[in-house]
Amino acid sequence: MRCATRALRDGYRLVRPLLFTMDPEDIHVRMIDALGVLPATTRAVVKDPVEVAGIRFPNRVGVAAGLDKDGRAARAWARFGFGFAELGTVTAQAQPGNPLPRLFRARASHGIVNRMGFNNDGAPALARRLADFGVARGNGALGIPLGISIGKTKIVEGPGIVDDYLASLEAVAPYADYVAINVSSPNTPGLRDLQAAAELERLLAALTSAAHVHDGLPVFVKLAPDLEGSALDDTLAVVTGSGAAGIIATNTTLSRDHLAPQDAHLAAEAGGLSGAPLSTRALRFVEHVAAGTDLPVMGVGGIMRPVDAARMFDAGAVLVQLYTGFIYEGPALVRGIHEWEGR
Ligand SMILES: Cc1cc2nc3c(=O)[nH]c(=O)nc-3n(C[C@H](O)[C@H](O)[C@H](O)COP(=O)(O)O)c2cc1C
Repeated sequence: MRCATRALRDGYRLVRPLLFTMDPEDIHVRMIDALGVLPATTRAVVKDPVEVAGIRFPNRVGVAAGLDKDGRAARAWARFGFGFAELGTVTAQAQPGNPLPRLFRARASHGIVNRMGFNNDGAPALARRLADFGVARGNGALGIPLGISIGKTKIVEGPGIVDDYLASLEAVAPYADYVAINVSSPNTPGLRDLQAAAELERLLAALTSAAHVHDGLPVFVKLAPDLEGSALDDTLAVVTGSGAAGIIATNTTLSRDHLAPQDAHLAAEAGGLSGAPLSTRALRFVEHVAAGTDLPVMGVGGIMRPVDAARMFDAGAVLVQLYTGFIYEGPALVRGIHEWEGR
């Protein structure tokens, strides 16, 4: 790790206890708002660039969905060295999400438990914001490709679900370099049931043909790490045959394995667990997925140190994304991954 990166890391670790005295959601909103006032840059860090699904990524480290749901800080991510950002998850209708509190630090474990429940301003609002930023698909206005994650509006059920996803896709398609279909968040009742083969087949058929009309907009599918055995293999077969461009693995887990004893009280909180406790599960999942499909895989889950990203690449991921690691380690983690020897 280079000197400047080590200094950045140590500086962040010095201020982290102060940041962590504040309510987690409160500080998150403040940070995103603060980043939102930074002007855009069109210059990205170019390191090991790669073309995936027809998109040119200047480097392989991205912002995971949920960190910037409404794209308020979209102009800032290239500055931190990210090679792409996945905005959202947005839903067709704006919605408040779950009651507070809904975000918890598992500090001793370097993890987060969240049950945000897709709080967001809605897909049309994100589309308007990106239009204001001068973003159009493929124009590189913010220096890096943008994915947009779409999910199900909470109050929509049954036969309306496909149309609800389609409405989001239509709203964001002109601004997205790829669309991520989120069927794996644990915090919207019934959402993960959409990963079951029959449901997923119908949903993806509709979404991939709609995306096709938008000049072949690539569709990625994000999976939960709790899928196992034949259910996972059936899901993988469906995604692989659906015309989707790739897989994002993984979302948060319902498991509470690897929580430190000091965080044991969080085991009872409903929601998904991310960060260090998820590292091994996510890595194994990515290995399994990469072996079971020809589609490119974005690896996400528990990347807390540069070596965790290296392991994701070794497991077959072509790109990686960060959420919890960025909260615990700050921007030095992005740089550290770029500087990791052997890359
Ligand atoms: C507070 C919070 C909110 C999240 N919101 C979303 C979301 O809206 N959509 C989504 O696909 N994933 C969401 N995630 C999951 C992350 O994108 C990522 O898949 C997961 O946290 C594992 O990566 P990590 O260990 O690096 O955090 C969220 C995660 C956290 C911690």
